[in-house]
Order: sequence, then C-alpha cells, then structure tokens
Amino acid sequence: MDLAYLAELPKEEFVLRRQRVFEQMQDNSALIVFTETEKRRNNDCDYLFRADSYFWYLTGFNEPQSALLLIKNEGLCRSILFLRERDPLMETWHGKRLGVAQAPSVLNMDEAFDITQIQSIFAEKTQNLTACYYAQGWQTWGDAIVQSCFGEVIDWRPMLSEMRLIKSEAEIALIQQACHISALAHIRAMKQTRPNRYELEIEGEIQHEFSRFGARFPAYNSIVASGENACILHYNDNNAVLQDGDLLLIDAGAEFAHYAGDITRTFPINGKFNEAQRALYQLVLDSMKVAVKHLVPNSSFKVANEAAMEVMADGLLALGILKGERETLLAEKAVKQFYLHSLGHWLGLDVHDVGDYGQEKDRPLQIGMVLTVEPGLYIPSDADVPEQYKGIGIRIEDNLLITEYGNKNLTSGCPKEIADIEAIMENH
Ligand code: GLY
Ligand code: MN
Ligand code: MN
Repeated sequence: MDLAYLAELPKEEFVLRRQRVFEQMQDNSALIVFTETEKRRNNDCDYLFRADSYFWYLTGFNEPQSALLLIKNEGLCRSILFLRERDPLMETWHGKRLGVAQAPSVLNMDEAFDITQIQSIFAEKTQNLTACYYAQGWQTWGDAIVQSCFGEVIDWRPMLSEMRLIKSEAEIALIQQACHISALAHIRAMKQTRPNRYELEIEGEIQHEFSRFGARFPAYNSIVASGENACILHYNDNNAVLQDGDLLLIDAGAEFAHYAGDITRTFPINGKFNEAQRALYQLVLDSMKVAVKHLVPNSSFKVANEAAMEVMADGLLALGILKGERETLLAEKAVKQFYLHSLGHWLGLDVHDVGDYGQEKDRPLQIGMVLTVEPGLYIPSDADVPEQYKGIGIRIEDNLLITEYGNKNLTSGCPKEIADIEAIMENH
C-alpha cells in the first residue's frame, strides 16, 4: 500500500511560480499574501489548520500566522516570509514550528522574519515603492497591516488565479492521486451500503479510505444523501437511515497534498436500480457522456452544457416528466427546473478552484485545465410529474484534464455504468 503522506510538489516549483509572479509585477512594487487564520470550533478547540490556497501556491508552507512579501525594486526580486518564531513551550503543547532561522533554506526564501514584526518591516521594505499587489478583504487580518501603505493597490487575484488555472505536470500528478483515492472511497462506500445503515456510517467509510491512502482531509464536507435528501444540493446533515428502495447520492472527494478530488456517484441502497431510477440514471449518464465529448480544447463549458441539456430535454420528454413542444422546451431551458446547477467548475487546490470562466462560461478550454463534469436531475416529491419519479435526486460527477487529444478522465477508476455498480454491490 502506498501511503504517500509526504507527497509534495518539488520545491523548485514554488520558486518558479514566484519567478513568474515577479515577471508580471511592475517595477518598484510589492506583493503581499496572507494565509488563513486558525478558526475556533468551540471553547479551546480549533478546526484543524489548512493554509490559504494562494499562499500555499507561492510558498508550500502550512503554518498559520504567516505572510509572503515579494519585493521588486529596480529589477531586484526578493522573497520574504513572515512566520511564527519558535517557542519551546508552545511547541510542546501544540506541535513543532519551522521558525525564522530555518525558513529561508527550507522554503527557498531570501529572508524570513518573526510575524510579530511584520508591521514595521513591511513599512520599511515598501517605503520607496509605488504599488502594492494585495487582495483587500481576502484575509482580513492583513488589511490593517497593508492599510499603512503607500501608492496604488492592485488586486493580485486575477494574476494568481490565471496561473493556478493551468496545471503543471507535477500538479496533475497530485490531482490524479486525489482523484484515485476519491474513486477508491466511493467503491468502498458502494460495498458498505445496505438498508438500515446511517448516512454518517457511510461517510465514515469514505473517510477511512481517504486516511488509508494519505489524505487526511476531505476536500469539502462529504455529502451522503439518501432518498429525497439528494435533492438538497449541498446536504450535509448525513444523519438519516438508509431506506430499502431508495437511492444514495454521495458527493465526496479527497484532498491529497492540498489538491482536491470531487466525485459524485448515485446508486441504489439495496444494490438494484428499479425501473424509474434506472431510466433517470441512464439519462443523467447519457447527458454526461455527451458533455464529456465537448469538454476539449477550444470548446467551452457553455457548449458542453447546451449539448447535455438537449439530451436531458429529450429524455425528460420521453419519460413524461416534461410536457410540451421540444423546441419551446429547449428555448426556455425547461430542464433547468430539475437541473439546478451548472455543468461543472475548475478543480485544483480548491474544490471550486479559481480562474475566470468567461461571461457565460464560454471561455475556450485549454490544455492543462482540470475541471469537473457533473450533470444532475432532482425531482422534488411535490413536482407535477409521474408518481414513480418523485423524490429522486441523481448526480454523476467526474474530473477531467484537458489534453491535446481532448480530455483525460481522472476519475475513470470509479464505476458509473449501471451494470458495473450493480455488480460491485452484488458481489460484496
Ligand atoms: N462538491 C461540490 C461540487 O460538486 O461542486
Ligand atoms: Mn462534487
Ligand atoms: Mn463539483
């Protein structure tokens, strides 16, 4: 078993990213990025810490109370890290710190300083500069420090988001691993599902598989939604009992080395789709397959989504769930009443990763983008549709890398054909 806890990007990749930022910065400017703060859950218990994704992208450093300052002055570029100083008592209680002395060599920085000195050192280092790249309000604890600043403030989010949108080879390898672990977790969930277990027990099975393969965190709170709970798009109560005859929708992805997987599968709790479930499921799957054909270089989410919605409209008409003229239903986007979200999103350090989509999600796709494809149909129990379809929610979600040949499905290890799902559940 490959328990790759320590998998990381090569250190040089962080240096290269900072170089690319320096190339885009005006001369005589600074750029400052603050990481996340520790968040209290209750009394003296905190949520486990995870760095801000922009900060991680430029540093590979996962301690709270840190900030990265880049200075470009008369062509000279310097990377400066602010972090918590070492403290034997705090480290005995809460864990080791990298410390100021070690930081430059470990993280390839030019200088490092105690975070408690940031206000005065920031003022001193930036006094002759004319612009500061800063994302006001993104990490609010930085606002007061940067307020004391000089000159023009330029939001760095468009620049860094564009960089993050196109993934490097090394990033793709980590995302592939996140997807692989996520796929294994879904397979385990299928094998462990049976009537009368609780949704949260299945959530535990998923988390177990993540941990086994070195992913401590889910990339987002796992959605384990049985029966009509599947019609709540970001359901996370996860406290219902699984009922014989219902479907179970699971939307869960591992975070591996800070990169996210994001898979959804929907399958029958008793292992066999009934006729209505089978028909709706096959329709979502068919619309997904059509969408995948369009998620290729120079096409767009918009084009793929329109193709998927056409398949859905035809299918829903055939099942009697939509009624009326085909052309009118298409023109009115009538399927949207049952397909409440969009086709997908960028995927990377964040599950809903950063990067511009274009006004109408019509941005041409490029090699090196990673995205999700996730059509769904959600039929509320009070919808005016044939009885057998009421209360069914289905989503199927895969993760794609855009390649020169079209795309590569990073989550193909997770079964989604009806026969394959039924076989896995039967043979267990
Ligand atoms: N897991 C959230 C999403 O699929 O967008
Ligand atoms: Mn998802
Ligand atoms: Mn998604």
